[in-house]
Amino acid sequence: MKNPLIRLVFLVLLGNYSFAQMTQPLPGSEPHRPQYHFSPKAHWMNDPNGLVYHNGTYHLFFQYYPDGMVWGPMHWGHATSQDLVRWQEQPIALYPDNLGYIFSGSAVVDVNNTSGFGKDGKVPLVAIFTHHDAELEKKKSDRFQYQSLAYSLDDGKTWTKYAGNPVLPNPGITDFRDPKVRWYEPQKKWIMTLATKDHITFYSSPDLKSWTRESALGQDFGAHGGVWECPDLLLFQHNGKQVWVLLVSINPGGPNGGSATQYFVGDFDGKIFKPYSTDIKWMDYGTDNYAGVTFANTGNRTILIGWMSNWQYANQVPTSPWRSAMTVARTLGLKEINGSFLLISTPVKELDALNGKPVLLRNLTVKGSQELTAKTGNLNGLFRLDLTASNSTDFAIVLANEKGQELEVGYDKTANQYYIDRSRSGKTDFEKGFGKRHTAPRLTPDAALSLTLLADVASVELFADGGLTVMTDIFFPDQPMNRLFIKSAKGLTVSELKVTPLHLSKP
Ligand code: FRU
Repeated sequence: MKNPLIRLVFLVLLGNYSFAQMTQPLPGSEPHRPQYHFSPKAHWMNDPNGLVYHNGTYHLFFQYYPDGMVWGPMHWGHATSQDLVRWQEQPIALYPDNLGYIFSGSAVVDVNNTSGFGKDGKVPLVAIFTHHDAELEKKKSDRFQYQSLAYSLDDGKTWTKYAGNPVLPNPGITDFRDPKVRWYEPQKKWIMTLATKDHITFYSSPDLKSWTRESALGQDFGAHGGVWECPDLLLFQHNGKQVWVLLVSINPGGPNGGSATQYFVGDFDGKIFKPYSTDIKWMDYGTDNYAGVTFANTGNRTILIGWMSNWQYANQVPTSPWRSAMTVARTLGLKEINGSFLLISTPVKELDALNGKPVLLRNLTVKGSQELTAKTGNLNGLFRLDLTASNSTDFAIVLANEKGQELEVGYDKTANQYYIDRSRSGKTDFEKGFGKRHTAPRLTPDAALSLTLLADVASVELFADGGLTVMTDIFFPDQPMNRLFIKSAKGLTVSELKVTPLHLSKP
């Protein structure tokens, strides 16, 4: 079968060719291509946008510049998945127009057709996004960002921009963007959470087209090392009580430098968000989970995907012909500790579809450094590691390669901190702040230590203590991290260590 098209059709008919794999060239030609994290086939990507579940499909739109490898005039790229694990890239959903570039925003399923965009009983998907007028920006206007709508009647395949755009003009605030819209059932209205420079403003609407300002907050609390962006307002049921969480991404000013996402927990009454406390809390202490937002229309599940990069170096990372990947999808929840609510993140259960046969080790005492590779086999840097220990002392998991490059994920008992050290992890000199050690507090120092680590060829995601402390870091080794070690100078008593190889298989 010489004709590649006939061969492809044949393979697809046979069912032994996955579309996800089809988009992922072999690691040899693209050594840093994530294998189970979404990355576009080519060109620049940043924030996830318009995350929505509709008719059995998860939609991931994203900030996309299809003509270059660095940030440029923004479009909404598009990918879909049936299981949050295997993504298929789709044609571009939204192109810039005479109102500007298409910046970040959200999408909702307008089940009651409040917008009137539905036709012949077809429920509209409505995207609410920021138009960014680069010409106005150049002219030093302060009104170059405003909110607009587009809708789709064919499950997100094609989109029509609303003729009445913009639906929310700019009142004179330079940074006025990233609308995240959700339905507020008690008052049967839409709520838009909008980033407005150094604070959040809430708007409401009966029909997505006309918006009323409800309230603003945040100017005098929270982290303010940089501009506020990409907010999200989440609702949790906690022991029969409604608890709201406000996510706010900031850039720069993150706990380990550059971009990061903070959150506040409180009450929301359809008008005002009242935080229970104004302490600074971070959803993820790593440097590479930014602008994360949650899916609309997933019932009681709260599922987040973030952009796995950081504005500090996103335009320089050594990948080609694409730049950036997304985090894995994560389930968010709440945990009450000593009367205060904390956000927990864990990988979605759907990711188990990637699991190969695990290697399980029980009641192991680690003293010094132990190589696990002989037991696990060569994982090529693609694995999930689950560990529980019965004492808590200094230890580290080390990913290494034949070139002696290492990525270390560990716990420092004295400082009571988890850390990821990527200073010797491969290519680091493309940006001066990249090759660093990052730290995160351990919030339950008295409990038994447990963690889950997800490793892909160019990233690690640490979910410690049931997801209370999370760290996401990218790295760029010159060869796959094919060796795995665990080390502890003081002696770690491991109750259980499970290492599971991960494989991307057919959707
Ligand atoms: C966040 C962000 C958003 C903006 C988009 C532009 O990373 O700066 O505030 O809408 O990226 O691409």
